[in-house]
Amino acid sequence: KTIVTTVDNSMDNEREYQQAVDMLAAGEVVAFPTETVYGLGGVATDEKAVEKIFKAKGRPSDNPLIVHIGTQEEVAQYAKNISLEAEQLMDAFWPGPLTLVFEQLPQVVAPNVTPGVTTVGIRMPDHPVALRLLRTLKLPLAAPSANRSGKPSPTEAKHVEKDLKGRIPLILDGGQTGVGLESTVIDMTSTPPVILRPGGITREMIESVIGLVETSHELKKEEAPRSPGMKYAHYAPEAPLFIIEANEEKIREAVTAIQEEGQKVAVIGPNNLMTTAADWYFAIGSNKNVEEMAANLYKALRQCDATEADLILAVETDLEGVGEAFMNRLVKAADGRRYHA
Ligand code: TXA
Ligand code: MG
Repeated sequence: KTIVTTVDNSMDNEREYQQAVDMLAAGEVVAFPTETVYGLGGVATDEKAVEKIFKAKGRPSDNPLIVHIGTQEEVAQYAKNISLEAEQLMDAFWPGPLTLVFEQLPQVVAPNVTPGVTTVGIRMPDHPVALRLLRTLKLPLAAPSANRSGKPSPTEAKHVEKDLKGRIPLILDGGQTGVGLESTVIDMTSTPPVILRPGGITREMIESVIGLVETSHELKKEEAPRSPGMKYAHYAPEAPLFIIEANEEKIREAVTAIQEEGQKVAVIGPNNLMTTAADWYFAIGSNKNVEEMAANLYKALRQCDATEADLILAVETDLEGVGEAFMNRLVKAADGRRYHA
């Protein structure tokens, strides 16, 4: 009972969009592509629709959702105290993979969109399907990533299908997403602003517009996590995953040692470190192009689940640019573990 509809913007998709818009307006949830990952949308002012999102995902009910809008002007309907810096970031990076957290105007979005917080995270996605959907619907969409909670975010419609088939009525298939990692989340309610989740809009890009910002892991441990989502396990493939250095010899040694224990091993890494010694090697891009590696990471994590690997090794990148977001997701998928011989 889950319909999957292709929406290729080279065709006339009037009917397909209208079906999605009608379902959303009637309080249903619909999965759709954004430039980061697929989202599971429901009208953000409709408490029952938002409840369906949490149910379909199996998401902990205390984890707030991002509100997606189709035009920059709409932000003032939901947020207050919009600073000059926030305006500058929106002008520079919207539409795009940047979520800004603001103080919330009360009683606009449904209370279950922002459980436990007085703020609201908002973004305008940079994807023709998402934008057309939002601009036709003319309502904000609460939309977490369209995966079962704890699984890697979906970067293809078939990933959504795998996780949510039978749980949601409609998936719009717009092909593979571009960035492949979720949006950068930045808390604009503190001075300086704090990056709560690194993503496609990098710290360097943000600082070039508004000057120095903080990153949440620089905050003291005693502070409650400011982004509730950060405390949950994430992106975990079925087999245990370990991070390993980008060193051909170290990888070959590790593969051999693991196989000598009678275990099968899958490796996720850059094209140049591809080794035939591994039982499976998922080459996710050039080691000189971390954007490419980021775009293919979640797909590779899901591909590992389709193997008989007992253990997964994932090759680390440096922390510059999108590398910060890439390594943030990898550390979560590995639950912090590194491979030691
Ligand atoms: O790229 C994305 O952001 C994707 C696409 C679909 O737009 N969405 C996404 O949503 O990744 P989700 O729900 O999977 O992740 C949202 C993250 C969570 O870690 C959540 O805790 C945090 O953003 N968040 C949302 N609203 C917040 C708020 N008001 N204050 C602090 N953190 C917030
Ligand atoms: Mg998510």
